[in-house]
Amino acid sequence: MWLVGSFIAVCAAIMTLQGRVINAQGDNNLVPVTVIVKGQVVAFTSHKSPQRTPPPPPPRRASPPPRRRAPPPAHRAFRGLASLSAEDATTTNNDPLPPGVLPPSKKQIRLEDAGNATFRAYAKVDLGEQAQLLRTGDNVEAPLTFQLDPAVAEELGLTDSGSGGSGRRRLSEAQHALRRAILQVNNTRRSLQELHDLGVLARLKGGRGARVPSAVAAGRAEVKSSGGAKDLMFTGKPLNVSSLTFLLTAPQCGLVPSLSLDTIRGVWVPAAANATYGLASSTLQYMHKTCSYDKLRVYDNADNQVIGPIDVGACSGTTQYGDAFDFAASCSDPELDAMYDAVMRWVQANRPEWIASGYFDTFMMMPLPSCGSVFGYGAVGCPGDGSPCRTWLFPNKGETKLDASTIFHEMGHNQGVTHSAGQFKYGPRLITDEYADPVDPMGSAGPMTCYSAPNSFKAGWSAPIDDMGAKGVAMADLADGWNDYYVPAAAVSDKNLLRIILEQTGISEEAAAAGQERALFVSYRVAQPAPGFDSGIATRDGGQWNKRVWVHEFNDTATGETATVDYSLMKAMLDVPLPPLTSDKAVQAPLPPGPRVPSATWAAQGTNWTYVSTSFEELGNLRIRVYSKNDTVAYVGLCRFKTNTEGEPGADSCYDTIDNDCDGLADDEDPDCNPPEVSPPPPPRKKPPPPAVKKPSGSSKGRRLA
Ligand SMILES: *[C@@H]1O[C@H](CO)[C@@H](O)[C@H](O)[C@H]1NC(C)=O
Ligand SMILES: *[C@@H]1O[C@H](CO)[C@@H](O)[C@H](O)[C@H]1NC(C)=O
Ligand SMILES: *[C@@H]1O[C@H](CO)[C@@H](O)[C@H](O)[C@H]1NC(C)=O
Ligand SMILES: *[C@@H]1O[C@H](CO)[C@@H](O)[C@H](O)[C@H]1NC(C)=O
Ligand SMILES: *[C@@H]1O[C@H](CO)[C@@H](O)[C@H](O)[C@H]1NC(C)=O
Ligand SMILES: *[C@@H]1O[C@H](CO)[C@@H](O)[C@H](O)[C@H]1NC(C)=O
Ligand SMILES: *[C@@H]1O[C@H](CO)[C@@H](O)[C@H](O)[C@H]1NC(C)=O
Repeated sequence: MWLVGSFIAVCAAIMTLQGRVINAQGDNNLVPVTVIVKGQVVAFTSHKSPQRTPPPPPPRRASPPPRRRAPPPAHRAFRGLASLSAEDATTTNNDPLPPGVLPPSKKQIRLEDAGNATFRAYAKVDLGEQAQLLRTGDNVEAPLTFQLDPAVAEELGLTDSGSGGSGRRRLSEAQHALRRAILQVNNTRRSLQELHDLGVLARLKGGRGARVPSAVAAGRAEVKSSGGAKDLMFTGKPLNVSSLTFLLTAPQCGLVPSLSLDTIRGVWVPAAANATYGLASSTLQYMHKTCSYDKLRVYDNADNQVIGPIDVGACSGTTQYGDAFDFAASCSDPELDAMYDAVMRWVQANRPEWIASGYFDTFMMMPLPSCGSVFGYGAVGCPGDGSPCRTWLFPNKGETKLDASTIFHEMGHNQGVTHSAGQFKYGPRLITDEYADPVDPMGSAGPMTCYSAPNSFKAGWSAPIDDMGAKGVAMADLADGWNDYYVPAAAVSDKNLLRIILEQTGISEEAAAAGQERALFVSYRVAQPAPGFDSGIATRDGGQWNKRVWVHEFNDTATGETATVDYSLMKAMLDVPLPPLTSDKAVQAPLPPGPRVPSATWAAQGTNWTYVSTSFEELGNLRIRVYSKNDTVAYVGLCRFKTNTEGEPGADSCYDTIDNDCDGLADDEDPDCNPPEVSPPPPPRKKPPPPAVKKPSGSSKGRRLA
């Protein structure tokens, strides 16, 4: 055999891991080839547009939920965007999703060779759980198990595990060379480009017969270096977005977009005649200026260009990876690759200097009918090696307008922020919808709505209020009783959120090293007059989300790097009747039921919400409460409690001026200490002074994190 002796040690290690993977595949005819592959991680995610109506009319629905959300079209032929697991999850899970709830986005990790701008050998890889902590731009060495294309295995006589077997065919010179190459790379360390150069890469089996191979990790992927992903996270200096947007057209199969270059350009920057920085409201320039507090900028200059329409030529054909594409019939990896090929052909012919200089966001737009309600597919974080950061957009053919907030969402992925999710309760099922947040464009917000607190914090745009210090406060460090804060509306200040660091149960050491930390975020969102900050909240769903206090859970931090979690999660939306803002903390009567979404766990009415920690005895739970609000600020209290009762009458805890059970009533105000049955009622004990708003250093009770 051709196995080289020096690889035996590596081989043995791989074989033990490999056994499990192969058995799991349950197909005895497949011949595995395991290679330690060097490559760069590029993570992609799809985006279904909540604003978008899918081409076929949706089936009749009994009672549509208040969210304007197109249901996922049933049984749509969807050959890919190739996240094998996500796709299987929706088809093998027989419980259909309730109307209005979107399935998870499709995620895919490609391992790419550095290659050059026009050709980067790649493989689609399933790295299992470890994928979560890998970021776009990481250069890894990963033991990957591919399968030989069965036809190739057969042709080369590699199907028998014994050497040769009976009736072995005579191989041509070329077949011999390929057979040798395959045996030679098995259990070795190779770059994808080498596998490509040896002619092996295209002989490995891809998903659904594709040429670009898919592989499963056969062990740990080791990060050798990080490409310094070019995320646009604010870490102290304003940054510029630079983007190239290519409008593609396929007249040969009638896929001619109705969008014009001017319209697209008008989504990025104000129309030329009006070109005043940040003035036109429905532009990415204005949205970034407003929502990032002018930290991330989109200039009307050569940094942002719209090019096209570029004729892609034949409607079907073969990509440079050897895969058949058909723009009219399919929406999957080959079509994405073919769109990129068309762009690169144009760039090479017309602007070759762009290849050398490297650039940031590359948007490719083309109306692909088979993409259905998927509006976009793009990189999560951008590679830092100057290779383009790719985003594909699929406007409908007849669409003449683009909503800046959908492009804002795609740019959000490129920048490295995550979806903003919520959960719905349907009977015994608790379903997470990654796009549920109605006030975050990374959820399902419409035009001119800024990020919710976790994403704004992640992007470096918003920070905790001054009273809390740069990172927020640890729940364990809260003073006993109520800790009170004025939370300005996000529109008013970039120091606008409370961040409460929770116990870190469930966060592994590796996850923590990657920047993960469990925390709650409290923020107040008030729509400004159009087209101001968050103005979209006023019109969304009849304004029912406006002037609310939001509690999100988010496990990532402002590291300046792409998030390693999939989403932040809305936990509660709190409210009290509008002004005046008072220091009165009398417990409010429950709010009247409003037009909320009954199944949404976060949208329940309430003035307060309780975080249930992993250990009540040790850590206690946390109650978050709104006392009052006006149009610019909400007055919010945090209270950690380790007991559900203020105390037995006469207990010390009934005389400590602290609301020990965080029910809003301290000491003798609380019937626990002062049961009404006892008559005559005891004379009021010395009343505690009304707790004042705590200042960062003025508080004498307990320690607060600086
Ligand atoms: C690669 O090596 C593994 C074991 O190390 C073996 O099972 C497999 O058949 C080999 N693949 C080929 C194509 O020879
Ligand atoms: C990029 O790499 C491919 C494959 O190795 C090669 O065919 C092509 O000529 C290269 N292009 C440039 C511009 O170097
Ligand atoms: C961003 O672009 C503006 C306008 O071209 C320029 O003045 C500024 O220096 C750029 N900033 C950075 C960080 O590149
Ligand atoms: C120019 O700006 C004005 C005021 O902001 C607006 O009313 C007008 O529609 C704009 N014109 C164009 C061509 O964008
Ligand atoms: C945060 O991490 C914990 C521990 O793994 C997990 O239980 C929780 O669901 C995560 N929260 C979010 C919003 O991802
Ligand atoms: C809300 O209350 C704060 C604090 O009292 C005050 O500074 C602010 O002006 C009030 N805002 C409005 C719109 O009344
Ligand atoms: C929290 O909300 C519940 C339900 O509306 C209410 O009964 C309770 O008094 C509230 N607690 C505080 C501290 O506001």
